[in-house]
Amino acid sequence: MHKIYLFCTKIDIYPLTSTVSETYFKFFLIKGYKKDESETSRLFLPLSKIRFMRIDILSVVPELLESPFNHSILKRAKDKGLVEIFIHNIRDWSTDKHKRVDDYAFSKGAGMVMMVEPIDRAISELKSQRQYDEIIFLTPDASKFTQQDANQLSMKGNLMILCGHYKGVDQRVRDYLITREFSIGDYVLTGGELAAAIISDAIVRLLPGVLSDETSALTDSFQDGLLTPPVYTRPAEYKGWRVPDILLSGNDHLIDEWKMEQALERTRQIRPDLLVQD
Ligand code: 6GU
Repeated sequence: MHKIYLFCTKIDIYPLTSTVSETYFKFFLIKGYKKDESETSRLFLPLSKIRFMRIDILSVVPELLESPFNHSILKRAKDKGLVEIFIHNIRDWSTDKHKRVDDYAFSKGAGMVMMVEPIDRAISELKSQRQYDEIIFLTPDASKFTQQDANQLSMKGNLMILCGHYKGVDQRVRDYLITREFSIGDYVLTGGELAAAIISDAIVRLLPGVLSDETSALTDSFQDGLLTPPVYTRPAEYKGWRVPDILLSGNDHLIDEWKMEQALERTRQIRPDLLVQD
């Protein structure tokens, strides 16, 4: 059941890539796949009905976000009209004459904390203009963002992302305004901006039409619960460093088998945690 479901989900996310190689389907058979309500809905969604995505990002250092969104695939997705990304400066909603958005924590020694009022005013204004599927807060003290989260969020329409800064935000923001929280890993960044660029990239590249056939996300590590096998290009030999003979054999069946073995072996070596069935 899971296998067929996954097959359909993939085809539906990438309706234009009907030439998907069988390798991917074989990969899917290796590991079960957890069905998820938000993913089933896309199964029945005609291609023409797929909405553009809108992402609003709230930050106190919006400059940090300009470059990632104005280059490469994110830029292309924006240019194609597949996604709209708006970067907002939280200071614009400050009521303070110095445009302050942070204040001392009530608990001593906790450092500066982002204030609830400017954030509430910003979020409320955006919410009065459209409905948001998720209002995401990026902070190291949250659960880790995964490919599955990217897959799910790529099926939403409007996302809002709040970048944390200073020592954190007033807990009332998290309690009353936020619907999801993510960290991108077990280390601390100075702010959530780089994390916002990372999760936006992970989400946007999954939108139909963003990637071409050749760069299809179907071959990504993690999409099938395994790391990708190694890849090579010409020349077949360089300084005596040879491409594995099997890849030059022309036998697609053997090559697929080899790729699967390699993917499994790499995963076993580098990320055995991915193979643990849950
Ligand atoms: Cl989302 N924010 C910050 N500031 N640090 C992080 C993070 C996020 N994820 C890992 N470290």
